[in-house]
Amino acid sequence: ILRSPQALQLTLALIKPDAVAHPLILEAVHQQILSNKFLIVRMRELLWKKEDCQKFYREHEGAKLESLDSDPGRFFYQRLVEFMASGPIRAYILAHKDAIQLWRTVMGPTRVFRARHVAPESIRGSFGLTDTRNTTHGSDSVVSASREIAAFFPDFSEQHWYEKEEPQLR
Ligand code: TYD
Ligand code: MG
Repeated sequence: ILRSPQALQLTLALIKPDAVAHPLILEAVHQQILSNKFLIVRMRELLWKKEDCQKFYREHEGAKLESLDSDPGRFFYQRLVEFMASGPIRAYILAHKDAIQLWRTVMGPTRVFRARHVAPESIRGSFGLTDTRNTTHGSDSVVSASREIAAFFPDFSEQHWYEKEEPQLR
């Protein structure tokens, strides 16, 4: 898809089970989305099937998972999958200029102690419990955003959105 430089970018955001289970934290994360002026393009709540969760992270972390136990990426995979399938999650398609990077900044660093020290005001810095239970997910590139949006919103047409909906928002 060709996009003009000023076009809004899409990203997939997830609120993880630790945060969806807690009404105040869920609301606070939702407010972060609004106060950073993201446009909520789609939103749904679901209980993630373990197989879908495995697939999502297997492809995402593919290189690490194909490799041997010596790879440090492998140790958290099972824990991550168990956790992400352990309770309801909320998925959003968010639009903003540079949405992918902006959402990652709003989330803060992956690891909880780093988040608390480097970005205490970020979502993970404020609400992250552990490196795995870290409140939110965000796509890390245009390619992964497309794939991740399709995983949660199979009926959503990016092309239709960019051609028909996005130009009207500018
Ligand atoms: P990763 O893609 O590296 O981080 P991010 O979510 O910031 O893009 O890892 C995906 C998820 O895997 C991460 O959100 C939580 C989990 N994880 C751990 O449980 N332990 C870890 O040490 C890392 C790096 C990730
Ligand atoms: Mg990632």
